[in-house]
Amino acid sequence: MGMVCLSDFEAYAKKYLPKIAWDFFASGADDCSTRDENILAYKRIRFRPRMLRDVSMMDIRTKLLGTEISFPVGIAPTGFHQLAWPDGEKSTARAAKAMNTCYIASTYSTCTLEEISAAAPGGLRWFQLYIHRNRAVSQQLVQRAEALGFQGLVLTADLPYTGKRRDDVRNGFRLPPHMKLKNLEGAFEVCKMSLLDPSVTWNDIYWLRSLTHLPIIIKGILTKEDAELAVRHGVQGIIVSNHGGRQLDGGPATIDALVEVAAAVQGRVEVYLDGGIRKGSDVLKALALGAKCVFIGRPALWGLAYKGEEGLQEVLRILQDEFRLSMALAGCASVSEIGPHLVQFSKL
Ligand code: FNR
Repeated sequence: MGMVCLSDFEAYAKKYLPKIAWDFFASGADDCSTRDENILAYKRIRFRPRMLRDVSMMDIRTKLLGTEISFPVGIAPTGFHQLAWPDGEKSTARAAKAMNTCYIASTYSTCTLEEISAAAPGGLRWFQLYIHRNRAVSQQLVQRAEALGFQGLVLTADLPYTGKRRDDVRNGFRLPPHMKLKNLEGAFEVCKMSLLDPSVTWNDIYWLRSLTHLPIIIKGILTKEDAELAVRHGVQGIIVSNHGGRQLDGGPATIDALVEVAAAVQGRVEVYLDGGIRKGSDVLKALALGAKCVFIGRPALWGLAYKGEEGLQEVLRILQDEFRLSMALAGCASVSEIGPHLVQFSKL
């Protein structure tokens, strides 16, 4: 099967994954309007391409908090990769390293942080944290990740409770018995209630700061008010995200929220985005509107479902080629030339 664009991987995953796994990956909250809006919003944005600008030599590299990556697309944290491919997160780590980009490993990985590190030594990885009621569990995870060479701590802020994903409720979704949330083994015995702590506040950033030297990146910011608070609480990065539309249904598309957040932050910290990235031109639009880098969630899972590490590499390679081509056609030879002049604000 010749894979040409990311929707080809989506179609493959839908056809071959067990329904319960496909539904878990695909689902958004409630009637999925925010999930779908993440994608539709890109279609409303028009470019202002520039011509005759010598695009014979293209430089698509960028830096994430000082570390170079091959192009401005990384892998967003998603749970349960073994539902897509038997080697799970180990394959994800290998693909990210092979493509020289950043992989944000989820708290809800089905491989341990140690297995993930050993699978792709030296790869650029950040660790995504959900804060648990039992703070000792979270503290231990953060310190384990730092000791293993993870280079950033991503705090997900938009999940005090899990959004209502109707298909998961209908399917009675749960992990198959042979898969485990390996980084939390033991934690369930310590804490029998729901594991996540819904009482987390901005003050907990100071608590995290006291635990680790890693840069802290906050994920799930959608407004200028929260962006300002994030900067004031000393984070190093912000991921504009609505969790792929899986949390509050009715919130904005992330590409629309990005404009407000980037304007508030004014370059004081790095701003990234995830949600709805399906084409190289989506990446270009996000960078033009102020993102330093974007991350893909579901498309990475489709790549894994297709052919594990190789499939994910193919997804990244296609996005990379499309991004390079879009840049060239818009008249940008390097990432530093991308800016707000590339999009028609009157149409936003
Ligand atoms: C997620 N997401 C997520 N986020 C997070 O911080 N920790 C997690 O464990 C997960 N798990 C997860 C599972 C699945 C199946 C999906 C689809 C999403 C959200 C993820 O990081 C990201 O915000 C979205 O997936 C981005 O949207 P796209 O690229 O899927 O459209």
